[in-house]
Amino acid sequence: MFSKNYFKVAVIGLGYVGLPLYLQIKEKGIDVIGIDNDKEKINTLIKGKSYIVDIKDKELKKIKNKTFYTDSEFSLVSNCNLIILCLPTPLKNNNSPDISYITKSFKKFRKYLKKDTLIVLESTVYPGATRKIFSKFINSKFNIDDKIDYGYSSERISPGQTDKKKYKISYNDITKVVSANKIYSQKKVAFFYNLIFKKIYLAKNIEVAEMAKLLENSYRAVNIGLVNEFKIICDILKINIHDVIDTASTKPFGFTSFKPGPGVGGHCIPIDPMFVKWIAKKKNYDAKFISLAHVYNQKITNWVLNKILNKLKKVNKKSFKKIILIGVAYKEDINDYRESPSIKLFTQFMDKKFKIDFYDPYIDKIQIKGKVFNSLKNLNQIKGNVAVIVTEHKNIDYKKIYKDSKIIFDTRGVYKNIDSKKIVQL
Ligand SMILES: NC(=O)c1ccc[n+]([C@@H]2O[C@H](COP(=O)([O-])OP(=O)(O)OC[C@H]3O[C@@H](n4cnc5c(N)ncnc54)[C@H](O)[C@@H]3O)[C@@H](O)[C@H]2O)c1
Repeated sequence: MFSKNYFKVAVIGLGYVGLPLYLQIKEKGIDVIGIDNDKEKINTLIKGKSYIVDIKDKELKKIKNKTFYTDSEFSLVSNCNLIILCLPTPLKNNNSPDISYITKSFKKFRKYLKKDTLIVLESTVYPGATRKIFSKFINSKFNIDDKIDYGYSSERISPGQTDKKKYKISYNDITKVVSANKIYSQKKVAFFYNLIFKKIYLAKNIEVAEMAKLLENSYRAVNIGLVNEFKIICDILKINIHDVIDTASTKPFGFTSFKPGPGVGGHCIPIDPMFVKWIAKKKNYDAKFISLAHVYNQKITNWVLNKILNKLKKVNKKSFKKIILIGVAYKEDINDYRESPSIKLFTQFMDKKFKIDFYDPYIDKIQIKGKVFNSLKNLNQIKGNVAVIVTEHKNIDYKKIYKDSKIIFDTRGVYKNIDSKKIVQL
């Protein structure tokens, strides 16, 4: 019924989720365009440059026909029969889901939709959101043929971890969950994603697929919260948390290890579980585990901060010049610092009048309270200063930090096997 040539795809939103997807579709020789409302990003892509660590410039350079456009060219959607939305879904200030990126973009391109088009949402949303957004627009006021169908496919990419050599898993090894509103569109969505991914899983319905994504990320949030609570208790009991985790990890079933850290960041773990809390509350149910994990994952950053401040009180302030945060990305080997705990730490140290700098091989500059701060170019300034290991990037010279710095606050267990007065495990 379908063939590879049947599909004319538009990927809308070319960020951490949309750009890798665009490239995979392109690589399979399927007709695809990519649209983003950020002109700078589009220009960068056209020049063959990448803004995502997992994607190398050479991957972009080798594309002969670069089909990247800004949203001023939304009319191109009229040539497409599969539209995939990879747009942000942050939280509003009151911790409710903000789906306005999707609705605003949809309002702009809906007039270009043609018959037999399928719209697939890849953004993470609360259960019921896909149906609410698209059925409302499609079935009623906008006079669009009811043959336009919709579906949901969760994105399970883990930025920084799809390097086949390092992690033995590449993008299309991850089983792709798909769903759609009608049997015909389920077949279509399944056929398409089977062209790209090695394995797909057709969820029973859209809401199951949406909720499964939230379970995956809530599971992480709760377990990270738990391991960080264990870290605090271990600290009180003077037991090394890393030794505890290594020991528990020898169990071959029923235990999955999570690493403690300075808190959670990124566009998923701090946000997605709150969608569950929000929808449960609407039905008068209080999602206690999720709330507690959220509180703990925030609280742990303050715990780390207070531990550092208490220790520094005992150190002669004149004996070091500054605090250097090692890594500001929210996790290792990526260049994304959205919601990163390091930003909170940086701000707090700044407010407390410490001289503060950061070193991150993946991030040139960060913006805090409207001010731009640049990464140190190298680790030369670490000599005699205080290092706080916030993000465990693999390409950092930890031996130099150990050799040259005055004190190291290690929130990631980089030096877990080194017993030294200089290192404070947090
Ligand atoms: N980053 C991850 O690791 C990850 C993993 C799984 C799922 N997700 C989910 O995927 C979705 C996208 O996340 P992301 O990390 O790729 O976000 P992102 O911010 O990296 O990318 C979103 C892109 O959409 C563009 N955009 C915003 N409004 C637009 C509009 N009206 N028209 C066209 N383009 C527009 C932005 O410029 C940006 O390039 C979110 O729902 C997120 O929760 C993210």
